Amino acid sequence: AGTLGDAAAEKGRYFGTAVAAHHLGEADYTGTLDTEFSSVTPENEMKWDALEPSRNTFTYGNADRIVAHAEARGMQVRGHTLVWHSQLPSWVGSLPAADLRSAMNNHITQVMTHWKGKIAAWDVVNEAFQDGGSGARRSSPFQDKLGDGFIEEAFRTARAADPAAKLCYNDYNTDGVNAKSNAVYAMVKDFKQRGVPIDCVGLQSHFNAQSPVPSDYQANIQRFADLGVDVQITELDIEGSGSAQATSYSNVTKACLAVTRCTGITVWGVTDKYSWRSSGTPLLFDGSYQKKPAYAAVLTALGGS
Ligand code: G3I
Repeated sequence: AGTLGDAAAEKGRYFGTAVAAHHLGEADYTGTLDTEFSSVTPENEMKWDALEPSRNTFTYGNADRIVAHAEARGMQVRGHTLVWHSQLPSWVGSLPAADLRSAMNNHITQVMTHWKGKIAAWDVVNEAFQDGGSGARRSSPFQDKLGDGFIEEAFRTARAADPAAKLCYNDYNTDGVNAKSNAVYAMVKDFKQRGVPIDCVGLQSHFNAQSPVPSDYQANIQRFADLGVDVQITELDIEGSGSAQATSYSNVTKACLAVTRCTGITVWGVTDKYSWRSSGTPLLFDGSYQKKPAYAAVLTALGGS
């Protein structure tokens, strides 16, 4: 197969990208998107600030554009993200606990119902654990006012809203075995033991010189899969260039393919031209939509040619 999506499909996986609605009018952008990728994640359009800027006022237009584009081309959609401390409108964070709880459950229910049956997987909760060596929860309005149980409650609410969607916990710097990924592991293990609905763990996999692809990446993916959840590589980008970047992308791809329940890879953007890493070149297509060595390395690792 000659494209990322087709080659991944031959291995029973999807290969996706983050998409920004405001680039969908650019021919090269949509041309590359539609040719190469079989899954989309709205980069910002499904975040709380984009969807519910004021309480119980929902604005779905930009996200609807991305969902419609994907549906028209048979691409799956990953929903990103229902409960997150960032991109949170100020009205949410200032609510007292009881209101916050109902606002969280209402947000999850309204949003998931809007696209019911159309979202393959939701990042139900994003980045709830601290960086560094403690494995502690990150402070947020949800953690601070609702306590540890907010994650379980969010997942239970999500299951009720759209049983067709896989429910994921998503985080970064959890790609290797470390205190943070151990805390996520403990939570997922506890959820599975108690029947709390969770179907997948998202490993964002943002790599750079300071945080390279860890040597125990595959082992980490495998241990989550062994808990009985899917693993999804949800936001892959790797700072660098040339053959070193290509080798890292190849290693990530091979690690996912080596674990049956690693169901797919999403890169965090179509082209270096629009990467969130404003100065970087972390993606598979360069600023002129030309395939980089990393592209060829991924296609080869997927068994494509
Ligand atoms: O929409 C406003 C626009 O109205 C305003 O004029 C402009 C200038 O202030 O800002 C625009 O919002 C920006 C938004 O992207 C949409 O472009 C925000 O400032 C900017 O902070 C936001 O950055 C996004 C970032 O998440 C924060 O939400 C990046 O594009 C996005 O790639 C990045 O993605 C995150 C994942 O969601 C979670 N994991 C980490 C990853 C990288 O940070």
